[in-house]
Amino acid sequence: MCGIIGFTGHKNCVPHLLDALSSLEYRGYDSAGIAYSTDEGIRIIKTSGKIEALKNKIKDYETAHCNISGDCGIGHTRWATHGEPSDVNSHPHRVRDLTLVHNGIIENYAELKESLAAKGYTFLSETDTEIAAAQISLRYSETSDPIKALHKAAEDIRGSFAFGVIFDDYPHKIYAIRRDSPLVAAAADGCGMIASDITAILPHTRKYFPIPENAALVIDGDEIFFFDRFGRELDIPEEEVTWSTEDARRGGYPHFMLKEIFEEPHALRETFASKMVGNLPAINSKILSSRIGTIHIAACGTAMHAGLFAKHYIEKLAKIPVTVNIASEFRYCDPLLDGEDIVLLISQSGETADTLASLRLAKSREIRTLSLVNVAGSAIARESDEVIYTCAGPEIAVASTKAYIVQCASLYLLALDLALKRGMISAESAEKMCSSFVRDICSGISSVFDYSVTEKIDKAAEYISARRHVFYIGRGIDSHLCTEGSLKLKEISYIHSEAYAAGEMKHGTISLIEDGVPVIAIITEISTAEKMISGIREVKSRGGYVIAFVSEEIADKFEIPYDEVVSIPCPSTHAHLPIMTALQLMAYKCAVKLGLDPDKPRNLAKSVTVE
Ligand code: AGP
Ligand code: GLU
Repeated sequence: MCGIIGFTGHKNCVPHLLDALSSLEYRGYDSAGIAYSTDEGIRIIKTSGKIEALKNKIKDYETAHCNISGDCGIGHTRWATHGEPSDVNSHPHRVRDLTLVHNGIIENYAELKESLAAKGYTFLSETDTEIAAAQISLRYSETSDPIKALHKAAEDIRGSFAFGVIFDDYPHKIYAIRRDSPLVAAAADGCGMIASDITAILPHTRKYFPIPENAALVIDGDEIFFFDRFGRELDIPEEEVTWSTEDARRGGYPHFMLKEIFEEPHALRETFASKMVGNLPAINSKILSSRIGTIHIAACGTAMHAGLFAKHYIEKLAKIPVTVNIASEFRYCDPLLDGEDIVLLISQSGETADTLASLRLAKSREIRTLSLVNVAGSAIARESDEVIYTCAGPEIAVASTKAYIVQCASLYLLALDLALKRGMISAESAEKMCSSFVRDICSGISSVFDYSVTEKIDKAAEYISARRHVFYIGRGIDSHLCTEGSLKLKEISYIHSEAYAAGEMKHGTISLIEDGVPVIAIITEISTAEKMISGIREVKSRGGYVIAFVSEEIADKFEIPYDEVVSIPCPSTHAHLPIMTALQLMAYKCAVKLGLDPDKPRNLAKSVTVE
């Protein structure tokens, strides 16, 4: 969680720090702060609240004193783990002769605190970060060498961190070190920088250095030097991002979430272009061409829901058993893994701590690992045996939308590819299935944006946004869409929602249905449509208000006793993802109607790099 930035070599780095923090704000937004070098020493300005609050505090400072400026600075946007969001807990933290920003968690902070206190250190905040800063300061007092101090302190610390540090003795240089938390470095136009992710440095350069685990670095102007823990200088090759600054901007949309939903057709086209040859799936993977026992999927949140979608198709088409695991459980449940099995990690950010830990668990058990990741060069991408990239472009809004759609589309192609490789289907039928999938979901998703459909979605959002509880029901693969649709609604609108396999309602949850309670019923499967309709009748008989999300074909064929219907012009077989787009749009509209910021829902952050 959280965004770190550091800038040096510019005559005034402060505006760059603030711009970069705005682009990192999606990573955490309960406090923000900067520290910059001045002739009188390091000055810190920090506050609880969003970047806007920091900008206002800076304005007030400038009105009362003078314009702030400095050639070297660090900045932070926080997602609190230790200590409430408050001015004093905000970063940067200053201990004795250094100032520091931190992303991650120091697990042994209590133990370190005790030994530091015994050595005379005192603390102002409740954060684990201040303890880490003191530990580095202690090691600096012993070594008088910032790089050695960072490495020594890193050995003392258990947990995850990316630190950006300015030492008083070197006020124009930025030092950094990372373990398990993301950080990149870059140089451009005479300046050097560090950032938690590439979007923050895109206005300056598209070239960056991925910082290896446990490597420390110093930036002096536009020169960057990396060192391993033995003090040996490392030669890190520069990499280049394919995303443009424009890709990471809002481009006229009121929110990133809306922009990203509208980018789905484009993201799909990019995905298909990279994963198909002609009309056939072509997933570049040695692992998928080898013998496979069971595929164990490990992922979190929306990415895990994409795993449920994958299970449906991999088992159906390729006849390979699939388990879908919540990564935070998988890593601790001592999973039964066999030599021929593979572990498939799904992650937009490629940084999620629990997913990364699941990957490492699989590797420690010598199980082959394959990842489906959006962010190139991320930890999960780098550490897995093979990586398949989704091509969603940067996803900034906290609620994942286009990343889910392309994850599912990629996984469908992967399932077809496996089926073909295993001789479960002929090339001819794979071609047919592939081209109808591509055609139907691209046109189906685009048709969700037609006024005739958005008008219905808007009406549904009007009803839902006035309620406290919502249920989502569906059968088969539709029940997986329910799970994701429900997560989307609750995370950004704060309306309580639950998803159920429709047949399960009558085993308990139906007791919660009373007059006016909204139930969203998804129907795309012709074979179970009648069963769904019986379930809907049961809900209606108890006063429930049913909003059906269905394919046009289902709406035409069956008489559904709904109160409202959103019908998607798409053949039933491939209506799932277009229906998901409609559910995402409905959740977005609910948040906006409630006056909430869908891009920055409370208590959440985009990438969860802590346990
Ligand atoms: C999605 O809307 C959520 N914000 C969240 O569940 C997310 O999908 C999850 O944290 C996993 O993230 P990842 O794909 O970056 O690993
Ligand atoms: N653990 C630190 C804190 O609570 C850093 C959290 C973050 O990564 O934003 O301040």
